[in-house]
Amino acid sequence: MLEAEGISVRYGPLEAVRGVSFEVGEGRIVALIGANGAGKSTTLKALMGMLPIAAGSLRWQGRAIESTGSSERVRLGMALSPEGRRLFPRMTVLDNLLVGAHVVHGRKRIDHALELVYGLFPRVAERRRQLAGSLSGGEQQMVAIARALMAGPKVLMLDEPSLGLAPKIVAEIAAAIVRINNETGMAVVLVEQNARLALKLAHHAYVYEQGRIIRSGSGAALLADPFVQKAYLGL
Ligand SMILES: Nc1ncnc2c1ncn2[C@@H]1O[C@H](COP(=O)(O)OP(=O)(O)OP(=O)(O)O)[C@@H](O)[C@H]1O
Ligand SMILES: [Mg+2]
Repeated sequence: MLEAEGISVRYGPLEAVRGVSFEVGEGRIVALIGANGAGKSTTLKALMGMLPIAAGSLRWQGRAIESTGSSERVRLGMALSPEGRRLFPRMTVLDNLLVGAHVVHGRKRIDHALELVYGLFPRVAERRRQLAGSLSGGEQQMVAIARALMAGPKVLMLDEPSLGLAPKIVAEIAAAIVRINNETGMAVVLVEQNARLALKLAHHAYVYEQGRIIRSGSGAALLADPFVQKAYLGL
């Protein structure tokens, strides 16, 4: 469904992503793992059209999208829950969710999307009238994922959803990711420094090092790979 072929992304002289290729098939959970600064977030921003690619190609359902703008990519079916959540703290949870639905037209479809995210995250439903900034870190992460879901994506991109959260909340968020994927068939691109978690959830995963993909395989295969175990799983 979404294909990157040999993409490079630059910040001026720095080539943060260097000739990376990967594929996100329909209904798949694909993980991108790697250390700080490896280029994972930069890759997601390039997929969303928030950064231009300096080389390579991007295809959505077979069609070239290198010059397609961000909001058009959202309309096509891509949505990002960014690193650090980026909620509007002084707006209510509900208003944050409605921001995510700005490409969705019609009251019925918006209500339907709300129903889906409230079913997935009952705590978000309970807190919907509260200011987003008053929520706990875990609740804010749920709102950030819910906001991306409000766009009704075919591919949901999550940048570090487990970062800084207690194990119990991480488990809740992981369960929600699996449910979204199972129940709606939505594909997920999961960026994580928590390699163990990501590899457990992912059908397929790519390992980033200094802007390059140095390994890829099924989540299970990479969990069993001695190199990955030593470098990323602390074994
Ligand atoms: N806006 C920017 N301007 C210049 N350099 C940047 C910018 N954003 C990121 N970089 C650099 O690009 C490289 C890749 O950063 P990126 O944020 O993609 O890494 P990451 O894999 O997401 O890391 P982390 O796990 O810490 O989030 C790093 O060397 C980083 O310092
Ligand atoms: Mg990052």
